[in-house]
Amino acid sequence: MVGVLRHLARPVWQGAGRLTTPLLPDDFLAVVDPLWSAKWPAGRVEAVWAETADATTLTVRAGRGWSGHRAAGQYVPVGVGIDGALHWRTYSITTPPDGSGRFAITVRAVPDGRVSPHLARRVRCGERLRLGPVQGDFVLPGPPPPRLLFLTGGIGITPAVAMLRALARRTGRRPDTVLVHSAPDADRVVFGGELRAMATRESWLTLHEHHTRQEGRLDRVRLGALCPDWEMRESWACGPEGLLAFAERAWRDADARHRLHLERFRPPSPAVPGRGPGGHGGRVRFTRSGVETDAGPATSLLNAGEAAGVVMPSGCRMGICRSCLSPLSAGRVRDLRTGDVHGEPGDVIQTCVSAVCGPVHIDL
Ligand code: FES
Repeated sequence: MVGVLRHLARPVWQGAGRLTTPLLPDDFLAVVDPLWSAKWPAGRVEAVWAETADATTLTVRAGRGWSGHRAAGQYVPVGVGIDGALHWRTYSITTPPDGSGRFAITVRAVPDGRVSPHLARRVRCGERLRLGPVQGDFVLPGPPPPRLLFLTGGIGITPAVAMLRALARRTGRRPDTVLVHSAPDADRVVFGGELRAMATRESWLTLHEHHTRQEGRLDRVRLGALCPDWEMRESWACGPEGLLAFAERAWRDADARHRLHLERFRPPSPAVPGRGPGGHGGRVRFTRSGVETDAGPATSLLNAGEAAGVVMPSGCRMGICRSCLSPLSAGRVRDLRTGDVHGEPGDVIQTCVSAVCGPVHIDL
C-alpha cells in the first residue's frame, strides 16, 4: 500500500490532504510505517556514542522516501522534536554513501543551543528524527585531483572525515592528501583516534594536528611549515569563521583562491547591519500566529520568530536550503549577507538570512 501511495502525483496527494482533514496523509502513513512521511521522511537513531567530551555521533537509519546522499561531504537537514515543536538543523553526513539507508552525523553541543545539546547529550537509540533532502557541493570531484589539502577546525572536520573515509575505501592509487586540523588540544580532536590510525596505516595521508591552546591560532607561517606546497593543492576548508577568514585571505593573497573550497556552518557576519533606512530593525507581526515582537537590525526573522514562540520552518539556517521560505505580507527586509534591502508584499523571503527593515508582516 505504501508503495502505491508514494507514487501518487502531487495534485492527487494534495487532494488526499483535503479528503483526510483534519488528519493529514502523514498521520495515516505513520500508522502503516512509522518511518515514512509524505512531507519529511523519518529516520530512527540506531546507535549513539561519544567522540569527545562534547561531540556525539549518531547512526541513523533513514525511512523510505529519503533521498540518500550521492557524495561524501554533503549535509542533511535534521528535524528534532523538542517540547512539542519541530526544530531543524543541518549536519554534515560523516559516512560515505553506500546505498544502505544508514548514515552518521556528529554533533557538538553548542552552549545555550536548543537542538545540539539534545542531540549530543540526550538523544537515545530509537528516537525518531525528520530528514530533509541531502544537499551540498562541498565534495570531491571525480576523479579527485592528485594533491589535496583539508584545512579543518573543531567540528568542521565532519565533511572532511566523510571524504577521507571515502578515499580510504577506494582501491588503487589515492591522491597525496594532507589534513591540517586545529583543535584546542589532542583530547578535543573529533575522530582523533581514527584519524591518527588512518594516517599511520595509509601512506597517501599525512595528518598535522594544530593544538591552539599551546600553539595559538594557525597562521600562514605555521601552515607553510606544515604543508609547504599548500597553495598548489586543491583545498577544502571547514571550521570556525576565524579559520575560514584566514583561509580566504591566505589563498587570495597567494593568488590561489580558485583552488580553495569553503564550507560554512554559519552565515558570514552581517554585511552592513544598522545602516540606511530602517537600519535599527523594527516591529514584526507574524500574522497567522498573531504574535508581534521587536527585532534588531542584525537579528534574523527566523531567530526573532523562534524567540517569540512562533513555530518557524527552517533547515540549514544559513541561506542555503530554502526550507525557511515564507511569504512577506508587508514591509521590507535586509539581506544579512549582502546588506541589500528588498521585499514587496507577496514576495517569498528566506527568514534565516533576512532582518526587518522597519515594520514587517510575515504570513506565519
Ligand atoms: S533555513 Fe535554509 S535557507 Fe533558511
